[in-house]
Amino acid sequence: MKPDRIILIGFMGSGKTTVGRILAARLGWDLVDTDELVEARAGAPVARLFQDLGERAFRDREAEALASLRRRTRLVVATGGGAPAQPRNRDFFSGPAAVFHLRVSLQTVRERTRENAGRPLLALSESALRALYESRMPVYDSMGTAVETEGRKPEEVAENILLLFRTQESQAENED
Ligand code: S3P
Repeated sequence: MKPDRIILIGFMGSGKTTVGRILAARLGWDLVDTDELVEARAGAPVARLFQDLGERAFRDREAEALASLRRRTRLVVATGGGAPAQPRNRDFFSGPAAVFHLRVSLQTVRERTRENAGRPLLALSESALRALYESRMPVYDSMGTAVETEGRKPEEVAENILLLFRTQESQAENED
């Protein structure tokens, strides 16, 4: 089936929102950032939800936000880094969607997010963050086509994704 949406997955700081914005502009589609959607629906920032209600309550809201997008097409979705790791969200990532994993090194994550206090999980110890990173990578790779972001500008990453997306589209057309 021809993909009618693009979903970006990857670790915090991999550039999902920035690249998603470029892709949406190029395709003339909408961009939804799931963290922003959760924040808009809850009326509070992600960090506050983690702090006041705990991670589980945030994950419930994240799952609801994803479910609310299931019928939308011509959409680029920049997902929170933990969304693909939640089995309850798996349905969202299957179906007629093209899923891309924006690969990033842990060192780059640290560099890009140094000044950013909005991500509660970045307060984890170095070893806990590494363990989280290492546990997430195989999940991302199993769910999306890997796209390298290391040393590349967001525009280049977006170009790469567009090319892959067009290829997937024409393969799907040939199968129909
Ligand atoms: C999280 C990633 C964040 C946000 C929350 C939890 C995670 O999104 O959803 O802080 O579990 O990796 P980004 O990947 O957009 O930073």
